[in-house]
Amino acid sequence: MRLELTFAIILVITGAGTSIIGCKNNVAEPEPNDLPVFNPTRVELEYPSWFPEMPLATTNPLTVEGIELGRKLYYDPLLHPQGTMSCSSCHQQDQAFTINTSGTAVLAHVNLGWSNTFLWEGGVEGTIEDIMLFEVEEFFKTDVSRIETKSEYQSMFYAAFGERDIDEELCAMALAQFFRTMISSNSRFDQYYPGDIQPNADELEGYYIFNSERGDCFHCHAPPLFTDNEFHNIGLDSTFDESNSGRFNVTGSELDRGAFKTPTLRNIELTAPYMHDGRFSTLEEVIEHYDNGVHSSNTLDPILTKAGKEEGLNLTDGEKASLIAFLISLTDPTFTSDSELSEP
Ligand code: HEC
Ligand code: HEC
Repeated sequence: MRLELTFAIILVITGAGTSIIGCKNNVAEPEPNDLPVFNPTRVELEYPSWFPEMPLATTNPLTVEGIELGRKLYYDPLLHPQGTMSCSSCHQQDQAFTINTSGTAVLAHVNLGWSNTFLWEGGVEGTIEDIMLFEVEEFFKTDVSRIETKSEYQSMFYAAFGERDIDEELCAMALAQFFRTMISSNSRFDQYYPGDIQPNADELEGYYIFNSERGDCFHCHAPPLFTDNEFHNIGLDSTFDESNSGRFNVTGSELDRGAFKTPTLRNIELTAPYMHDGRFSTLEEVIEHYDNGVHSSNTLDPILTKAGKEEGLNLTDGEKASLIAFLISLTDPTFTSDSELSEP
């Protein structure tokens, strides 16, 4: 959700004089006749007041033109050097921007504007601009000359950034702007948490299990984002090789062996299969894992074996069903059908 501001630039009066945020905005360059005037419209994001503040980049202010460009690039196979796929080939909106496939599970594009570690092993740390540059330069190896030759893109890049030379960095900046708008904040949970509607009995019991020592899920899947943006070994395996060493492959620290990024649980109903290797195809299997399937190892997160939990959570069938009802209440149909996020 976003709000378009009626003014194009924000002036900040400081003691030292006047500075301009998004300082490219007022550079006086002669406009060639075939390009639109560079006067982007600033956008302010809207999300619930009980969400943390999303970190924004002063060097990449959100604009209508930048977001529109990022969205177009996301859906365009031209970004791929062979033109065989777009980001959306594996990140499909109706599955919260994942796709059900075998091998390494596709991570959802949900509220990543709040994230600062990316990929299952945390191979990229930093801003959303940093991960987008990685995706463009290293994952897709985008050939920008293919984009540069299209007059539609020439005008869109100029309208968004006032630049005529298109490069990987500008592609990443546009994608980053689009990613910041991929906000999911209208699930049933988002309606009953502030008291706008009543949760049903199962959701309420599931919320209690999730958010108390009973299930202890909230430590890592911390509301309202349902991730702590950290890495944990949750006991999927007890022996490790390169394929399941996770964070260790990046840091080389023995303490990180078997640890993976905590994924958000928002829209989890739609993002099967589950875990970094997609080993579970249903939420029931995930709950069975936490209930009685945790494998020991030196790096197993201590939360999973806290006093009283050595033999597992011992949830009743009713409690398991309630926990799943709670997880399903994190599904946000307005997000998966938001036309501002769909293929332009
Ligand atoms: C061939 C399928 C495929 C395509 C195409 C694809 N991705 Fe992904 N994406 C994945 C998989 C699989 C992962 C998880 C990989 C990992 O963590 O090792 C992922 C992870 C990510 C993440 C990390 C999310 C997180 O929570 O850390 C981002 C961001 C991302 N992709 C963006 C993009 C962008 C942008 C594009 C287009 C330039 C793109 N992806 C194209 C499959 C794909
Ligand atoms: C110690 C931190 C921690 C705790 C506690 C925890 N989780 Fe997780 N959860 C993770 C991590 C890390 C992953 C990803 C693990 C992997 O793929 O190797 C994960 C994965 C998941 C997934 C699959 C997500 C996906 O996109 O594939 C679900 C569902 C889930 N957890 C639900 C729960 C529930 C329900 C509880 C409480 C019973 C819980 N978690 C407790 C850290 C935790």
